[in-house]
Amino acid sequence: MASTTPNTKHPKLIAWVKEMTDLCQPDRVLWCDGSEAEAETLYGEMCKSGMLTKLNPAKRPNSYLALSDASDVARVEDRTFICSETKEQAGPTNNWMAPAAMRETLNPLFRGSMRGRTMYVIPFSMGPLGSPISQIGVELSDSPYVVVNMKIMTRMGEGALKVLGDSGEFVRCVHTVGMPLAAGQADVKWPCNKDTKYIVHYPETREIWSYGSGYGGNALLGKKCFALRIASTMGHREGWLAEHMLILGVESPEGKKTYVSAAFPSACGKTNFAMLIPPPALAGTAGSKGWKITTIGDDIAWIKPGADGRLYAINPEAGFFGVAPGTSTRTNPNAMASMAKNTIFTNVALTEDGDVWWEDLTETPPANLTDWTGQAWTPEIAKTSGRKAAHPNARFTAPASQCPCLDANAEDPAGVPISAFIFGGRRPDTIPLVYQANSWEHGVYVAATTGSETTAAAVGAVGVVRRDPMAMLPFAGYNMGDYFTHWLKVGKTAGAKAPKVFGVNWFRKNAQGKYAWPGFGENMRVLKWIVGRVEGTTGGVETPIGTMPTYADLDFKGLDFTPAQFADVTAIDAEKWKREVETSGEFFAKFEGRAPKEFAGVQTAILDRFAAAVASTSGKKISAPTATV
Ligand code: GTP
Ligand code: SPV
Ligand code: MN
Repeated sequence: MASTTPNTKHPKLIAWVKEMTDLCQPDRVLWCDGSEAEAETLYGEMCKSGMLTKLNPAKRPNSYLALSDASDVARVEDRTFICSETKEQAGPTNNWMAPAAMRETLNPLFRGSMRGRTMYVIPFSMGPLGSPISQIGVELSDSPYVVVNMKIMTRMGEGALKVLGDSGEFVRCVHTVGMPLAAGQADVKWPCNKDTKYIVHYPETREIWSYGSGYGGNALLGKKCFALRIASTMGHREGWLAEHMLILGVESPEGKKTYVSAAFPSACGKTNFAMLIPPPALAGTAGSKGWKITTIGDDIAWIKPGADGRLYAINPEAGFFGVAPGTSTRTNPNAMASMAKNTIFTNVALTEDGDVWWEDLTETPPANLTDWTGQAWTPEIAKTSGRKAAHPNARFTAPASQCPCLDANAEDPAGVPISAFIFGGRRPDTIPLVYQANSWEHGVYVAATTGSETTAAAVGAVGVVRRDPMAMLPFAGYNMGDYFTHWLKVGKTAGAKAPKVFGVNWFRKNAQGKYAWPGFGENMRVLKWIVGRVEGTTGGVETPIGTMPTYADLDFKGLDFTPAQFADVTAIDAEKWKREVETSGEFFAKFEGRAPKEFAGVQTAILDRFAAAVASTSGKKISAPTATV
C-alpha cells in the first residue's frame, strides 16, 4: 500500500522528493508500491470523486472510464520544449528555451501547484525489472489517474525501487495538473490548467517537468518524454536508438521467425500492424500451417547493437495506450482481447449497460449513449450535428500481458534481432504501397523523408501533410540533423548485418477518394513480400525509388484485388516524386548543414533514375511495375 514514509534509503531520491514537496506544497506525500491493493484504493477514491466511472464488471471486469476536460485531449506539441544548453542542440524542429530561463518560468508555476492534493511518488522501470537495458525513473505526480495508468504502462512500484537500490541513477519526472485547491474548495472531475501547459525536458540533467495537462503523453512521463525524448539523447551518446516503433515477429509456415520494427506517426497504424492477424488464405488451416504474427511492442522500441553485430530491440513499456476509435473485432481482435478486462478507457462513450463504445466498434451504433463530453448521444444526434460519441484520440490503457499474440520473447532482456525496418505514414498519393531502399543510406533517407497527414493524436489541424522523419518529429530529444547522422552511423557499424529498409503506405486513395488498399490484416501480404526480400527469396523490380513488387510478386491468394487496383496503389509519378524530392530538400535545408550530405546524393540518384525512365518510355509517365527483373 502507498505509504507516507519513504520505502527507500536512497539519499538523493529522498532529498529530491523533499525539495519538490517544498516547492509544490502538496497536502500529503504518498510513496507508491505498485500493489493491487494500492490500485484498488485509488480506483475507489477516483470513482468517489467522479474522475472515474466503474464499468459493468459482468461486461468489462475491473475496468474504468475517464472523461477528460474538453481542452485536455491530446499531446500539446507547441507547449513541448527541449531545454538543452544550446538552441542548436535542440535543433530547428523542437521548441527551445535556455534551461535557466525555463527554470525561472516554471518555478513560480510549480510553487504551491499541488496544494490541496496528494503528491504520489511513482518509481518505475522502462524495460523488464533488473535487466541491463532497462532504465529507472521516478515520477512525482498529483494525479491518481497517472498512478493507475503508470501501473499498467510500466513496471511500477517497489520492484523498481529495489533495482534502484541506495545509489542508482534515475530520471527525475515531475508532473502537476496545475490546479491547486484552496482549503474546502471542491475538485473538478478532470483537473488540469486550461490556459497554461508546459511539457519540458532537460536532456543534460535528465529531468522532465510537466505542467497543466493530465492526458496521455503529456502526463505519463515514462512514455514519450522519457522513453523517446530523454532516451534518444542517451542513445545518441551511447550508440543506440530510441524509436517510435512497434516490434513484431513474423513466423513463416515453415516455422522460421523474422523480427521487424516499424515506425508510423501517431495514429497511423502501429498498434494495428503489431497485432496483425493474417487473412485466412495466408493464416493456414487446421491441416496446413500458415503465417503467424506475434507482438513485442506497439509504440516504442529501444534498439541496440548486440555482440554479433546485429541490432536487437526491446519494448520498454508494459502496456498499450492505444487509439480506441476504429478498433474492433473486425480490424484488431487482439487489441479487443487485450482490453477485455483490467483496462482504463479515456474519452470513449458509455453504453446504457455500463460498457464502452466508440466509432466503428460495431457496425450499428447503440441507440443511446453518454458521449465523451458526458452528454446524451444517439445516432440521430450524430447524423444531424456530426458529434462523435468518442473523441478521435480516445484511448485504452491495457496490460500487454493480456495480449493473446504476445511474443514468447517479449520480456527477453537481450531483445529480438531486427531484420527489417519499415517506415510509413498517411499519404493519399505519391508514396506506393511498398518499396525497398537500395542501401542503408538510401534507407535512412526513406526514413527521414517519412511524411504523413496530421492526426488527432496531437492538438492542431488534422489532415495536413507534414514531414515526420522516422515518425519522431515530436519525439526527438536533440537536433534531428544529428539524429539522421546517428542513424547512418548505427547502420554503418552493423554493416552487412544492418536491417533492410522499406517504405509503405496503407493510406493511398483512389480516384473516388476511397482507400485504395484494404489494409489491416491484408497488410500481411506486404509483410510476406518484405520477409521474402530479407531472405532473398522474393522477386521485385528496380524502379527510380527503389525495388518494388510486381503484381505477381505479392500473394493475393483469397483476395479479389485486380491488376488495375494494384496499379492504383503502386503507380509512381515522376512529377509528384520531383515535388517530393524538392519538399524533402526544403525540409533538410532547415538543419543548416547538419543534415547528412549523403541525402543530397540519394536525391540526385532518384531524380536521375526518373529522368532515364521517362526518357526510355518516350516521355510518357512511368507507371506501376509490371515485370520482374
Ligand atoms: P499511436 O498510439 O498514436 O502512436 O498510434 P498507432 O500508430 O499505434 O495507430 P493505431 O494502430 O492505433 O491506428 C490508428 C488509426 O489508424 C485507427 O483508427 C485505425 O483504425 C487506423 N488504421 C490502422 N491500420 C490501418 C490500415 O492498414 N488501413 C487503414 N485504412 N487504417 C488503418
Ligand atoms: C502518440 O501520440 O504517439 C501516442 C499517444 O502514442 S501519447 O502517449 O499521448 O503520446
Ligand atoms: Mn505513439
